[in-house]
Amino acid sequence: MNAIISVKELEKHFKINKHHKGGLGAIRNLFSREFQLVKAVDQINFEVQKGELVGYLGPNGAGKSTTIKMLTGLLVPSGGELMVNGRIPWKERKTYVQRIGAVFGQRTTLWWDLPVIESLELIQHIYQIPDAQFKQNIAEFNQLLEMEPFLNTPVRSLSLGQRMRADICAALLHDPDLLFLDEPTIGLDVVAKERIRQFIQHINQTKGTTILLTTHDMADVQRLCSRVMIIDKGKLLFDGGLDQLQDQFGGKRELLVDFSEIYPDVSIDGAEVSAFENGRATYQFERQEISASALIGRISSKFRIQDLSVREPDIEATIRRIYEEKLL
Ligand SMILES: Nc1ncnc2c1ncn2[C@@H]1O[C@H](COP(=O)(O)OP(=O)(O)O)[C@@H](O)[C@H]1O
Ligand SMILES: [Mg+2]
Repeated sequence: MNAIISVKELEKHFKINKHHKGGLGAIRNLFSREFQLVKAVDQINFEVQKGELVGYLGPNGAGKSTTIKMLTGLLVPSGGELMVNGRIPWKERKTYVQRIGAVFGQRTTLWWDLPVIESLELIQHIYQIPDAQFKQNIAEFNQLLEMEPFLNTPVRSLSLGQRMRADICAALLHDPDLLFLDEPTIGLDVVAKERIRQFIQHINQTKGTTILLTTHDMADVQRLCSRVMIIDKGKLLFDGGLDQLQDQFGGKRELLVDFSEIYPDVSIDGAEVSAFENGRATYQFERQEISASALIGRISSKFRIQDLSVREPDIEATIRRIYEEKLL
């Protein structure tokens, strides 16, 4: 099967002026021809199949937006190859953008002074969307994103959540094959985030739109993506399922046990007691060393148990560990 996105050894380097500090530095800066090379994207490889919804994660400055800009044809790569939807984005931009949609959370693609509905009508005109398709999509998106209350409001007066909904709607009016979302939930409250997540999922499931989503909100990822790619300092560090991520880097799991009798010491081989109070113990154990059921077996053969539960480390903690401890 042919991948809808294929990226090989993709690179983007930026040359930035080297800055010297201090009074003399300011003078040196004036005449300086020294450059520093930033490898914003550094030889990354991946493929995305049609219909996938992939999360693209990384800390600030990791290279997420730069990747998306290359994928959408806004930036020309410094090296490597990319092919999206059968085209080379930056080379064939005009025909390419007819089949993709993009939302950049940090800035709107809509006309600041126009009411939302007029912005959308302009987009209909630019993309030459047939009336019937336009009307049907507006009706459907309007219902799902509840845009009715602000369709006649100028974009500049929208709240961030309303603006994001309008932007996402605008990006999908022409029924693109691919949708690129760069931080679509940034700065939104919980309710607004959830509405947008539901909508993204709906579009992916009902229209089969291939979606690449950058975010640093782990809840977005847990809710939406079965596959994640992690980038840091321009390098792709991980590409796989969320389960696999937990298996490989998930750190310690916890078993909480309530005992039905009083024991002075509840230690057990293969796990560490990290807390023991009021008849409840917390055991920490490594998934590679012992399974939860084996540990429960050991504990119940020594003590009488009233209740127990297993706690998985959360994805957010796992990802933080990957960044901080350079596990990869
Ligand atoms: N136009 C540019 N000129 C110079 N450096 C840039 C430019 N755009 C991005 N960078 C640098 O490239 C790196 C990656 O940036 P970016 O892709 O925006 O990261 P992210 O979206 O993951 O936060 C950062 O070090 C950033 O400062
Ligand atoms: Mg970014």
